[in-house]
Amino acid sequence: MQLTDSLGRNINYLRLSVTDRCNMRCFYCMPKEGIVKKGHEAVLTYEELLLIAETAVELGIEKIRITGGEPLVRADIIGFLGKLASIPGLRHLALTTNGLLLAEMAADLYRVGVQRLNVSLDSLNPQTFSEITRGGDLVRVLAGLEASEQAGFPPPKINCVIMRGVNDSEILDFADRTLSHGNSIRFIEYMPAVKEDGWQRYCISGEEILQRIAGRYTMEQVDKGPYAGPSRDFRIPGAKGSIGIITAVSGHFCSECNRIRVTSTGQAKGCLFSDAKTDLIPWLRPPDREGLAEVLRRIVSTKPERHEISQDGYTHKNFTMSQVGG
Ligand code: GTP
Ligand code: 5AD
Ligand code: SF4
Repeated sequence: MQLTDSLGRNINYLRLSVTDRCNMRCFYCMPKEGIVKKGHEAVLTYEELLLIAETAVELGIEKIRITGGEPLVRADIIGFLGKLASIPGLRHLALTTNGLLLAEMAADLYRVGVQRLNVSLDSLNPQTFSEITRGGDLVRVLAGLEASEQAGFPPPKINCVIMRGVNDSEILDFADRTLSHGNSIRFIEYMPAVKEDGWQRYCISGEEILQRIAGRYTMEQVDKGPYAGPSRDFRIPGAKGSIGIITAVSGHFCSECNRIRVTSTGQAKGCLFSDAKTDLIPWLRPPDREGLAEVLRRIVSTKPERHEISQDGYTHKNFTMSQVGG
């Protein structure tokens, strides 16, 4: 079965957030004081998340990416992932993590059937890393990357949010890293998620990032597969890893968008930036598979054409990335 929206886009990818909690506090994602914790009742149980995943796969979803907050902080996440991995018809199970707990958990993640990991890493400098994440430990994340490969994973893709005046001086260091390491480095345009006046000062377009790299290296474009996300990928000839740009603000990948999202409290969204969300709780408590299938179909069919943000025109709506999962 195929899920197609009103613009003919094939929707085969679900981003499922399992918690809005996190063991870091990246300044572009969370306010300093953290977020108001959702009550235990508000967060979907694993049974409820599983019901959403099974229903989505029956409708035509083939890839699920688990997000957070930080998914690895939720208790018994490994058991849950094992159940997800055995859903018939699910072809790809991936997870996005900040990597802090990967060194201890990579082997279990691999064992239960997670196939790919994306890891956030915004600086290779311990001090800058700690400032961006408000206390995160770079050494742990690097150990996590290494442990993932030892566990059997392909080299995790690295997500690097580039912010002018914060870490843009490291663009070439990250590019250099692809010569010796197999990880794909994806430079992400900063998105105005946490309310902050003057957010535009951080913005660097993907094009500028590519130009800076082109000042040192030649790059060739790399094809992307059918389940790929918004990244445009390149490779320095002979390099082990690739370089991607995710033009979340300047880019126009909305016409190729293949995804829907569900938050850990059961809010389904057709677009990351849209205010429109649908509360799935009425179809989960008590469980109503047919009703849930119907409402998921509706979310796909009413998926917005594109997001409205741009570096100059965006009227800021405060949404916390950790609640939506990126
Ligand atoms: P894969 O292609 O499956 O590896 O996934 P991905 O790159 O989409 O996932 P990941 O969780 O690693 O997200 C990387 C960045 O892309 C994050 O900053 C996300 O917020 C951003 N992103 C993912 N999907 C969308 C989208 O639909 N729209 C926008 N604007 N940004 C997105
Ligand atoms: N702008 C760009 N990327 C963001 N992420 C989180 N918040 C933002 C933001 N404001 C990224 C993280 C993580 C991914 C899921 O989303 O770096 O890797
Ligand atoms: Fe946590 Fe990821 Fe948000 Fe950083 S970007 S605070 S690691 S959820």
